[in-house]
Amino acid sequence: MRPDSLDFSQRTRLTELMDEPCSREVLRACLRDIARTNRWTLGYRPVFHWLNEVAAAFAPLAGPLRILDVGCGYGDLLRRVEQWAHARGLAVELTGLDLNPDATAIATEASPASSQIKWVTADVLTYFPPQRPHLVVSSLFAHHLSEEQIIQFLRWMEERAQMGWFINDLSRAPIPYHLFRAFAWLMRLHPFVQYDGAVSIARSFLPAEWQSLCAAAGLRDEDFEIRAFKPARLCVARSKQP
Ligand SMILES: C[S@@+](CC[C@H](N)C(=O)[O-])C[C@H]1O[C@@H](n2cnc3c(N)ncnc32)[C@H](O)[C@@H]1O
Repeated sequence: MRPDSLDFSQRTRLTELMDEPCSREVLRACLRDIARTNRWTLGYRPVFHWLNEVAAAFAPLAGPLRILDVGCGYGDLLRRVEQWAHARGLAVELTGLDLNPDATAIATEASPASSQIKWVTADVLTYFPPQRPHLVVSSLFAHHLSEEQIIQFLRWMEERAQMGWFINDLSRAPIPYHLFRAFAWLMRLHPFVQYDGAVSIARSFLPAEWQSLCAAAGLRDEDFEIRAFKPARLCVARSKQP
């Protein structure tokens, strides 16, 4: 990749190395480094900000709150959600979904024996959850998809999520792109993560693009909110009215 030649006015068509076949060892090292980067850059904060809002807005449910994490990778986010729910005495049923069977195996291995999270291998676009989740979240997932697939994904969530959904992704701009490259090199992240992290930023979104993707999926402006978080996160929040 020649960074100087990247045009940040549109999503790059470059693809990520992690989306190509690789060994489970390489995938484990990459997913672990992405999870570390998420922790260092407060990458889960937008999701918890939204979960706290939703938990406060909705009356307690008769049964457990079902949360589905799409493109769960290492599973770090859901393990944190499990702790969040435990700290609030909130009954939850958590499912992590990933297309790659090695990712779900790695997420299982990385979870403590006491964890109740279910890990499922499937392509979200053809997945029919046995019971409709109340909430669907995803983190660093949407930018892996084409525009057409994102519209499908938005419709998929809109149809299935009973209470709402949240997309936690990146904001496309040259400064975070160059800062990430320097940071990844300094922290000696796995070479795939150094490359893929930069490509992820270049594949990610501007607010106007989320606006038109949501409109193409049939959402009205008042149905969703585009939220920016520092550093370099751009998220889409949808809460169905209680
Ligand atoms: C960059 S990782 C993100 C991992 C994690 N959510 C995080 O925030 O660190 C993206 C994950 O999405 C998964 N993925 C890609 N396409 C998918 C699809 N169509 N259905 C389900 N998972 C998919 C990949 O296998 C990969 O594990």
